[in-house]
Amino acid sequence: MKKKLFGSLVICQVVLLTCLILQAGVIWAQDRRDIPARTPDIHFVPTPHEVVEIMLRLADVNKKDIVYDLGCGDGRIVIAAAKKAGAKSYGFDSDPVMVRKSQQNVRNEGVGHLVSVYEADIFNLDLSKTSVITLYLLPSLNVKLIFQLEKLKPGSRIVSHDFDMEGVIPDVEATVNRPGGGTSKVYLWTTPLRKTNSR
Ligand SMILES: C[S@@+](CC[C@H](N)C(=O)[O-])C[C@H]1O[C@@H](n2cnc3c(N)ncnc32)[C@H](O)[C@@H]1O
Repeated sequence: MKKKLFGSLVICQVVLLTCLILQAGVIWAQDRRDIPARTPDIHFVPTPHEVVEIMLRLADVNKKDIVYDLGCGDGRIVIAAAKKAGAKSYGFDSDPVMVRKSQQNVRNEGVGHLVSVYEADIFNLDLSKTSVITLYLLPSLNVKLIFQLEKLKPGSRIVSHDFDMEGVIPDVEATVNRPGGGTSKVYLWTTPLRKTNSR
């Protein structure tokens, strides 16, 4: 009788230990899912919605366009491009947490038929199929993208929130007064890019 009881106790302990190990494994896997494959070059800071609207208007986005937001954050730009212009839009972000957030936002806004969001390093993307690029990165990152942006089809538009692209002459450089106070800069370039002599 004592032997039987001891045996049952051991089985219980083994089952409990197995459950604990499995649970730890699930938690570890979930944590790993949230770790970006590379450190983001800039962390998420959203473009205010009213600035998004001006960027899309400046780039004259329409339903024939293919829009890429490089570093899409919560997906607000690609969602707006789909909702306001009916454009097929793609967001790319290296942070898996932001990718899941924007995918959820795309579902919530009912634009899944027009918008896709992927986890990717923007510096590895082929941009040759797109007609509009949106950016809210950093001046140095915009410059780092020039090589890829030169592969865009002629007549493609690039709009950047707040940051210039040294060495490339913008078609438009606008200052936006935000309704809540403060200002934002918005830049537009069209391809083929016009380089300054200094580069
Ligand atoms: C300033 S936020 C802009 C978000 C959004 N485009 C907007 O305007 O609201 C920059 C985003 O770029 C992402 N990011 C930074 N470096 C990246 C890289 N190398 N590849 C892909 N995404 C990157 C960050 O995770 C972040 O979500």
